[in-house]
Amino acid sequence: MSTAQQVPIQHEREARPLKRHRSASYYVHRARVSLTTRVSKIVCGIFLTLLFIVGIAAFIAWLSLRPHRPRIHIRNFSIPGLDQPTGFDNAEIIFNVTARNSNQAIGYYYDSVEAFVHYRNQVIGYAPLVDSFYQEPKNTTILYKVLSGATLNVTSDRWSEFRNDRALGTVVFRLDVTAMVRFKVSTWDSKRHRMHSDCEIGVSPDGSILDSYKNKRCPVYFSN
Ligand SMILES: *[C@@H]1O[C@H](CO)[C@@H](O)[C@H](O)[C@H]1NC(C)=O
Ligand SMILES: *[C@@H]1O[C@H](CO)[C@@H](O)[C@H](O)[C@H]1NC(C)=O
Ligand SMILES: *[C@@H]1O[C@H](CO)[C@@H](O)[C@H](O)[C@H]1NC(C)=O
Ligand SMILES: *[C@@H]1O[C@H](CO)[C@@H](O)[C@H](O)[C@H]1NC(C)=O
Repeated sequence: MSTAQQVPIQHEREARPLKRHRSASYYVHRARVSLTTRVSKIVCGIFLTLLFIVGIAAFIAWLSLRPHRPRIHIRNFSIPGLDQPTGFDNAEIIFNVTARNSNQAIGYYYDSVEAFVHYRNQVIGYAPLVDSFYQEPKNTTILYKVLSGATLNVTSDRWSEFRNDRALGTVVFRLDVTAMVRFKVSTWDSKRHRMHSDCEIGVSPDGSILDSYKNKRCPVYFSN
C-alpha cells in the first residue's frame, strides 16, 4: 500500500519539473520566434523605407534630367517684293527661327544645321546655317538667314504661282530646319540623332509673315 502510494507521488515529483521544463522551453521558443518576426519586420521596414527614398530620389533626378526636345519657334519670315510682278529677279527669303534648350541639365551638340524652304512639296531654297555649336541648358540660339541668288530657286513660273496664291490672300511655305543633335548629360554623350523641325508659314500679300503664324512653335521630330 505504502509503496503503491509512493509511486504516484514519485511520479508527480518527476512529472512536475518535467512539465515546467517543457513549458519554459516552449516560452523561450515562442520568445525566439516573436523576436525573429520582429527583427524581420524591422529589417523589412527599413528596406521598404530605403526603397521609397531611393524611388523618390530617382523620380526627382528623372524630373530634373527629363529630356525635352529642342523648342523651335518661327519668329519672322518674309519674302519682300511679293507685290511686284517681276520680283523673282532679286527674290529673297528672310527668316528668323529660335532654337531653345529648355532642359535643366542636358546640353545639346548641334552639327550641320541646315534650312530647306519648301513650296508645294518642292525645295525652293536651301542654306547651311551653322556648322556646329554647343548649346547649354536654358539657352536660346537665333537662326537668322537671308536666302537669295544661288540659295534660292525661284523662276518666273514659280513666281507667278506665288502671285496666284497671293491673289487668294496667303502664300504658304514650309521651313524645314534640320540638324544632327547629340545630348550631353554630365560627362555622357548620346549618339547623333537627325532632327527635323517643320514649320508651316503663311505669308500675306505684302510678303510678310501672317500674325497667326508668328511665334508659332514648330513640331520637332527625330528620324533616328
Ligand atoms: C521681320 O522681317 C522683316 C523683313 O526683314 C522686317 O522688316 C521686320 O522688321 C521683321 N519683324 C520683326 C518683328 O523682327
Ligand atoms: C530674331 O528673333 C528674336 C526673338 O524674337 C529677336 O530677339 C532677334 O532680335 C531677332 N533677330 C533678328 C536678326 O531679327
Ligand atoms: C547662351 O550661350 C552663349 C554661348 O555659350 C552665351 O554667350 C550666353 O550668355 C548664353 N545665354 C544665356 C541666357 O545663358
Ligand atoms: C529649280 O526648280 C526647277 C523646277 O522645279 C527644277 O527643275 C530645277 O532642277 C531646280 N534647280 C535647282 C538648282 O534646284
